Amino acid sequence: MELRHLRYFVAVAEERNFTRAAERLHIAQPPLSRQIQQLEEELGVTLFERGSRPLKLTEAGRFCLAHAQQLLAQTAELKAMTQRVGQIERKMSVGFVASTLYGMLPKIIRRFRAEYSEVALSLHEMTTMEQIKALKEGKIDVGFGRIRHEDPNVRRIVLREERLMAALPSEHPLTLAKPTLTLLDLVPETLIIYPKAPRPSYADQVLAAFQDRALTPHKIVEARELQIALGLVAAGEGVSILPSSMLNLRRSDVTYMELNEQNLVSPIIMSMRMRDESPDIKALLNLIYDLYDEENIEYKKELW
Ligand code: BEZ
Repeated sequence: MELRHLRYFVAVAEERNFTRAAERLHIAQPPLSRQIQQLEEELGVTLFERGSRPLKLTEAGRFCLAHAQQLLAQTAELKAMTQRVGQIERKMSVGFVASTLYGMLPKIIRRFRAEYSEVALSLHEMTTMEQIKALKEGKIDVGFGRIRHEDPNVRRIVLREERLMAALPSEHPLTLAKPTLTLLDLVPETLIIYPKAPRPSYADQVLAAFQDRALTPHKIVEARELQIALGLVAAGEGVSILPSSMLNLRRSDVTYMELNEQNLVSPIIMSMRMRDESPDIKALLNLIYDLYDEENIEYKKELW
């Protein structure tokens, strides 16, 4: 069975019609029918119900379609990823979630540009889930996100676990009540989470932190993105839970408070294509570890 057979079979199954499938494939109908016949002979099963109009798949046909679609999608991903890895010019596209801009990302990029000026670096803001897709389509080479998403084509390295903090309107009574807070203290408040979409996202990590402690916030408001959530906190609409690097985004109308909770962290995860052994990506990872050492930032080192 060759990929060509699967491509032809998927086109006929999706169009439910030989004429339209032949047009889509830019071939004549008789050779298309012959290819489908050959495939059925080779498999020793009937894929389409005889005489059905529009064409109907048999049970074996439906099974074959689901797997053939997956295989073709994987083939397209393999092509895009291989072309990207084999590019001659030294280019590196980096995807990042917005919150990493308030952590070490700007410093990392400045240092990388200074040390590896021969590599053309480009930056693209995108969610973790968009990064996974962009890696597989060969649109980026590295992603910095926060969601632990499993994908057989993507390698994930957890760089560090960042502590979470509460952001409250500066006039809020809780800011005077005690030096640190717990999630229980925040239950009566309106909790502002972000981003609203796509999910899963950092918003789900915050909700899971409450769920894990059998707590339910009194009211939840979803903000489109981080800056909106912070603006709503400043306006007195509620409280939010943010990674501690957001301290770099101080505003006079928002007070940040430590959360006295075990394991209340959000990871910073570096993702790359599985088995992409680009020396530039390795150099970027080592440069991040060097910066962590220089700045005394706690982290977990993973062997390349
Ligand atoms: C960090 O804050 O540790 C970080 C942010 C972006 C990329 C890599 C590391």
